[in-house]
This record gives sequence, structure tokens and C-alpha cells, in this order.
Amino acid sequence: MREPELTASTIDIVATRDRVATHLVGREHELELILSAIAAGRDIVLEGPPGTGKTTLLRSIAEEWGIPLLFVEGNADLTPAKLVGHHNPARVLKEDYRADNFVAGPLLEAMQSGGFLYLEEFNRAPDDTINTLLSALAERQIAVPRVGTIVAQPSFRLIASMNPYDNVGTTRLSTSIHDRMCRLSIDYQDEFAELGIVDLRAQDGGRLGERLVADAVAVTRATREHPDLRQGSSVRGAIDLVLVANELSLLRGVSTAGDSSTRLDPDGDYPRLMFDAMVVALSGRIHLDEAVESTPERVLREIWEDRFILNPAAAAPG
Ligand SMILES: Nc1ncnc2c1ncn2[C@@H]1O[C@H](COP(=O)(O)OP(=O)(O)O)[C@@H](O)[C@H]1O
Ligand SMILES: [Mg+2]
Repeated sequence: MREPELTASTIDIVATRDRVATHLVGREHELELILSAIAAGRDIVLEGPPGTGKTTLLRSIAEEWGIPLLFVEGNADLTPAKLVGHHNPARVLKEDYRADNFVAGPLLEAMQSGGFLYLEEFNRAPDDTINTLLSALAERQIAVPRVGTIVAQPSFRLIASMNPYDNVGTTRLSTSIHDRMCRLSIDYQDEFAELGIVDLRAQDGGRLGERLVADAVAVTRATREHPDLRQGSSVRGAIDLVLVANELSLLRGVSTAGDSSTRLDPDGDYPRLMFDAMVVALSGRIHLDEAVESTPERVLREIWEDRFILNPAAAAPG
């Protein structure tokens, strides 16, 4: 059996960094820091909003090292039994409790296979689940009643993520948890990287091309600055906006977004199409401030007007 031994002395961290970087747009800095923590044998919390490339980074590292990546979502239903595993109740009735009728949960699977356990929305898990996790982290082993002691493979790591905009809050976790993990804050990509990511995931803007990509990234980024919003959309919204706008352009027979130097008529086909596509791609991804009396559609209308009417010069990319 292959037992990947991930210690600073056995992995070529420089080669890993160089190869993983070829799968990513930007994020060189974050990649270096995460790799260093993992190679040092540490567990880490990644703190950042959704869509900032956390999964993409981790998946690329896990694939590079050929180790499993197990996903779990932290929520109130994530009991210790769900994380660790449970005895199959039907078989227990027939056979009584036996090690071989135990169904391993993701924590056990990650420990046994030497994988990364990726626990998203870490802060939403109940306290008893987090405590179970903490002792597994501290001991690198876990005692399971009627099964025995499971010892983690050396490459087992916990990577937790949390969203700083989460209203459940990231401060409820006790200091004993924070004291056991490294932490990296991951913010939204810069505009240049977002343009690159959208190009990569949405075929360079499809038939509407670069102007659409520039507009999609600009309006998506504007949702993060809008005063009525608690949380704006990630680059996922920009990717969807480009994909949706392209399909809509087929339905409506709109063949071009206009070349980058043309001044747009806001009543033209392309700007109108953009507003409709923005509603579909972005309205569910923006979160109004509790104190604000508005609607996602109204906020998007303001952002659209800013881009396509009030400030048309900015609509020209480059
Ligand atoms: N640095 C990056 N390079 C390439 N694609 C990226 C990058 N960051 C994000 N993406 C793309 O953006 C989307 C969201 O990224 P993801 O890794 O799932 O974010 P998170 O896990 O932080 O929610 C995915 O479609 C992913 O492919
Ligand atoms: Mg993710």
C-alpha cells in the first residue's frame, strides 16, 4: 500500500509549487503559504468568502500528491457520528456490533487514507463535533468504540474554511481551536485575475467575446462595493453571467456586444440583454444588508446604470 509521507524532507515542495501553479490563475502567494503549512505537517483554516479559489487550490495540491480530498459541509446536522462514522443499524441487529459493520465517516476515511479532510463552513459545525475533531487533530488518532483505535496516516490534514461574511460568525469558535491551527485569509481575486478566470471557465466570453467578459467582471466586482449589500457575488457570478448572456444572445439574435471602442446605446440589444442576464446570474448571489429596504433587482439596476448609462466610457475595456 502506498503511504505518502508528507514531510518537508520527503516532498519536493518547489516542484509541487511549480506544477500546481500551472493549474491556477494567479494565487502564487496563497499557494506558497498553504503548501508551506501543509508540508510542515500543520492543519489550516482558510478564511475567505465563497468563490475565492479555496477548493481549486486544495484540489490541485491533492491531485499533485495523489492523495484523497474528502469534502464535508459544516452545519448544525454534522454530528460527531456523521464525521467519524457509525455502525450499520440493520447489520447490528443481525450481527451485534462488529468492526466490519462500521461505516467510516469522512474523518476516519481521511485519517486512514492519508487524505485531506476539507471541512467547509467549519464555524457552523456543533461544538461536540468540533471537539471530536480537535482531539483527532491533537492525537493524530481516534478511539472508536467497538472498532478500536484508528491511527492517521502521516499525510492526513484538516483544512477548514469559513466565510467572514457568515452571520453565524467566525468568532464563536473557541481559542483552543484557533490555537491548534494555522490560518490564512483569502480575499477576492484582483480584477486582472478575475478576467483570466472568467476567460478560462467561460471560453473567452464565447460569441460575445472580450467586451462581455470585461462587463461581467466589472458589474460583479461592483456588487462587492455596493452600499446596500452585505455580501456581493464571487467570480462564479461573472462566469455564469457570461455563459447566460451568450445563450440569451442566441435566443434574441444578438450577434455582437459591439467592439470595445463603440459607445453603447443603453437601449441597444446588448445592454438590455446584459441587464436580464445579470438578474439571472447575480440576484441570488448578492445579500442585502438587513437594514436596507431594497431588492436585489433594484441594486442590480443601479449597478447596470453605472456601467452602461452614467459611465459609458468605463464600459470600454483596456
Ligand atoms: N485561481 C484560480 N484559477 C482558476 N480558476 C479559479 C481560481 N479561483 C477560482 N477559480 C474558479 O472559480 C470558481 C470558484 O472557485 P472555488 O475554488 O470553487 O472557490 P471556493 O472553494 O473558494 O468557493 C470555480 O469555477 C473555479 O474554477
Ligand atoms: Mg469551495
